[in-house]
Amino acid sequence: MGENRLMQKLSIEGGIPLQGEIRISGAKNAALPILCAALLSDEALYLENVPHLKDVTTMLSLLAQMGVGITVSSPQKVELNAGKIDNPVAPYELVKTMRASILVLGPLLAKTGRASVSLPGGCAIGLRPVDLHIKGLEAMGAEIEVENGYIQAKAGRLRGARIFMDLVSVTGTENLMMAASLAQGVTVIENAAREPEVLDLANCLNAMGARISGAGTDTITIEGVDALHGASHKIMPDRIESGTFLVAAAASLGKIKLNGAKADILDAVLDKLHEAGAHVSFDADSISLEMKDRPKSVNIRTAPYPAFPTDMQAQFMVLNSVSEGSALITETIFENRFMHVQELCRMGAHIEVEGNAAMVRGRDHLGGANVMATDLRASASLVIAGLVARGHTTIERIYHIDRGYECIEEKLAQLGARIRRID
Ligand code: EPZ
Repeated sequence: MGENRLMQKLSIEGGIPLQGEIRISGAKNAALPILCAALLSDEALYLENVPHLKDVTTMLSLLAQMGVGITVSSPQKVELNAGKIDNPVAPYELVKTMRASILVLGPLLAKTGRASVSLPGGCAIGLRPVDLHIKGLEAMGAEIEVENGYIQAKAGRLRGARIFMDLVSVTGTENLMMAASLAQGVTVIENAAREPEVLDLANCLNAMGARISGAGTDTITIEGVDALHGASHKIMPDRIESGTFLVAAAASLGKIKLNGAKADILDAVLDKLHEAGAHVSFDADSISLEMKDRPKSVNIRTAPYPAFPTDMQAQFMVLNSVSEGSALITETIFENRFMHVQELCRMGAHIEVEGNAAMVRGRDHLGGANVMATDLRASASLVIAGLVARGHTTIERIYHIDRGYECIEEKLAQLGARIRRID
């Protein structure tokens, strides 16, 4: 990473209610698996509404070094052609910067019969093993060895299998669904992840000629086909970006409208915002929120979709930090996703962590401070804290935030925030 990117900071003057409208970008966690789906076909895959994010450019680099032809006709329009993959390898240098690289494993194995993918390793929020990905591929006939930090996989044509996921895994479900698309016979994935991004991937695969049913439910059936053809697909809007801006508006007592946002994939989050006292309204492709009075504390318990998303936990911790009352936040998905707590406490938040639960006692204000981002969603919570704190906040290591939020300071400035990036 370039030296200056490491040194970049965000500087925020707090205390201004967010007002106005912005457009929500395409979903990072739909774009990443869908980019990998291009590996399954010899024909071109045309994608629209691709978010312009660090993780997306990393994934494009990973695919390009495999031999995938890539044309970026605008920041949001990408054409991929995997007609000649001559290097089915995902090297450590790229994988260590983005765990979602594991999503090339299933498609490479299904299309070329071999794959060499660096083990992602842990990250700030937890160990995050990939044992369920490997177990599912072995059930389809793959031979997989893990050595020297790499997953070495090979297979003849994969065979359909009945796979029960011990844990609900989003990318595990996506990897196996992509691999099964070209397998011989029928695969059934039970206890599958139901996230909307899994359904968006299935819709793209079906447009390419796959035969997938049940995506979005906990049982997905994939009837393997001999080949997939080219297709066009528009990436769904980012529900976590939407939720993040809604929480920022609620915490700052503002009034905003998110164009391109979809309310029907955010039920758990909108329900909690309503419980906190926000007025939320929506139509087919926008969500509006107004917060007139100080928010009320709300208890949060993260769980797989459609329950409350773990990717929104840090943001609600900030909201609860300035709300009236106390609330308990329980994180059930990742074992170490409270990295933002100590930074928020430095801004005056009253948070006590006991295992996977955090008790937040609301205060009527936070104080600006110099803080450090540790992971993507924790960074977002520090930005929200800076927006509502009294005085000035500087956030370091903001490369974390650029991985998952497109032009965050431009969008916040559009809503009246006093925020700028400094080298
Ligand atoms: C996806 O990660 C998302 N990333 C994460 O978003 C999100 O937080 C997570 O799902 C949960 O919703 C992408 O989609 C690219 P999991 P993923 O496999 O698939 C354990 C963000 O902020 N597990 O659903 O890696 C795992 O350790 C990111 O955008 C195994 O034990 O998450 C975790 O405790 C952060 N073995 C739980 O399951 C496995 O083989 C859920 O993980 C796989 C997972």
